[in-house]
Amino acid sequence: MRRALLGLSLLGLLILPTGCRRVIQPEPIVPAEDQSLRGLDAPTPTEQAQRVIRDRLLRREQMFRELMSPGTHWQELRLDQALIDRRRISVAKLVEVGKELFRHDFTVEQGLGNGLAAQKSSLAGPLAAPNLRHVHRGEFGGPDATRCAACHHLGGLGGGGGKIDTVFFLGDGDRPDSALHRNPKALGGAGLLQALAEEMTRELRAKVRSADQRLSPGQSEPLHSKGVSFGVIKRRSDGSLDLTAVRGVSPDFIVRPFGWKGSTATLRQVVLESLQQHHGIQADELLPSASAQRSDFLGDGPTEDPDADGVTHEATEGTVTALTTFVAALPPPMEEVPEVSTFLMRSARGAELFEQLGCATCHIPTMSIQDPVISLGPDKQHRPRVDLSPLLVSVRKPGEPLTIRLYSDLRRHSMGESLADPRSQRGIPKDEWLTPPLWGVASSGPYLHDGRAATIDAAIQAHGGEGLSAAKAYGKLSQDDSAAVRVFLQTLTRPQSLEFKP
Ligand code: HEC
Ligand code: HEC
Repeated sequence: MRRALLGLSLLGLLILPTGCRRVIQPEPIVPAEDQSLRGLDAPTPTEQAQRVIRDRLLRREQMFRELMSPGTHWQELRLDQALIDRRRISVAKLVEVGKELFRHDFTVEQGLGNGLAAQKSSLAGPLAAPNLRHVHRGEFGGPDATRCAACHHLGGLGGGGGKIDTVFFLGDGDRPDSALHRNPKALGGAGLLQALAEEMTRELRAKVRSADQRLSPGQSEPLHSKGVSFGVIKRRSDGSLDLTAVRGVSPDFIVRPFGWKGSTATLRQVVLESLQQHHGIQADELLPSASAQRSDFLGDGPTEDPDADGVTHEATEGTVTALTTFVAALPPPMEEVPEVSTFLMRSARGAELFEQLGCATCHIPTMSIQDPVISLGPDKQHRPRVDLSPLLVSVRKPGEPLTIRLYSDLRRHSMGESLADPRSQRGIPKDEWLTPPLWGVASSGPYLHDGRAATIDAAIQAHGGEGLSAAKAYGKLSQDDSAAVRVFLQTLTRPQSLEFKP
């Protein structure tokens, strides 16, 4: 069975789409005047304060407008993908609308939640719409929140969440212990993760294709991308390819950088699933696939309104594009070196130990990227296609290739029984987790997939399986040295930004 599946997926990857297609020109992800927001050249506190005061005044004005004529703001957020494709809506505008959407409280009138209780569906809770509940019911989800920022808020908009924000995915709709527990992740730099993963996928697939042409029966070849090992590919004596020794990536060789399990490949897909599972907001582009098989995800109501809340066209393609573009544009975390020389020296010692202990074999500090351009529309034929390099400018040294200091290898590792889930997820074994990028780790606690570790120290000590020997080596350090590792990790933080809380 496993072999048959592997064979099938391999076939899928060897048949690549051909033909001449329209090429969408990339545009910079942030306008020139915003580039100073990144990394080292952060705007001064005064500039930031002016910006957030302006933002707050605009929001208050908008709130009053909304009270005078309800629904107008929501209409402004419902963008038309056709206009985006015709370049009538700029990337900067998409980021702005996406930001509004990210902190927007969806309402029942706009499609929040579901009305499945009325038709006694097993997917619904006992209540009328929105039917909010903390524990998800299978792939269908909650809804468990009214806004994205309810969970992605620590350290500012787009940050991670606290232990109290734990999501209970894929449960029975009632008992937390039926579900998979996940801590909300911080989203800064998410666009770059997608760009990097897409490059790795292209490289891996090209290697597999070439191995398939060259390997004779009995021969094998190591598989790697950007210096990361993905195991070994072999040719069996019967001529078929043996992928049983491939490690850390699914049999389709798609590198999936999102979710603690490394279960999703693109930001748009995460956004579509988040809208559905956290908010019961159903995107138009998912509906054509509302077949019998997908009713566990979308609901078993009418075809045009599967969650039976009486609201159709809950999220337009353009709305999803704006939200995705905002997330992709969130600035990557930065490294903030200590000003006091004693701490600076401790941090340098910590970085050295991070290598020596073997942490850096999984949390690889730097990866280079050739082409940081990604498509964020419904598919590659749609705008926008964005160039993310402005997000990296301030950390680029002249003449060097673009590098991303993410501290991850973007592959999965087996981390031992005590970190394992009760069951596998999307075919990924229960003890396998994506190496989380440690960029921004100082501002993203609590730690680990379920937020069980309150401190960085506890997170390190919890490493088992493939991470056990590094954790043990860390445990044996002198107090001075282990403090140095923690000082170093505290320098990996997110750019400071002033913000008004709503
Ligand atoms: C109830 C809490 C909650 C809400 C609301 C929520 N998220 Fe999340 N988000 C999470 C959790 C938990 C994860 C990690 C999921 C996993 O591991 O599979 C996550 C992961 C993500 C990721 C992937 C990040 C990564 O690096 O893996 C993105 C992107 C994201 N959310 C965007 C959104 C958007 C956009 C919305 C609103 C439409 C949203 N989230 C609403 C809790 C939430
Ligand atoms: C075999 C690969 C591997 C090695 C080696 C490794 N880690 Fe990890 N690390 C992981 C994985 C996978 C996780 C996520 C586990 C989970 O969430 O259950 C993780 C999680 C973490 C976290 C928590 C991050 C967060 O956002 O919650 C920290 C901090 C961390 N590692 C630091 C270290 C340090 C320091 C070392 C060296 C002593 C180290 N790691 C060695 C793979 C590794």
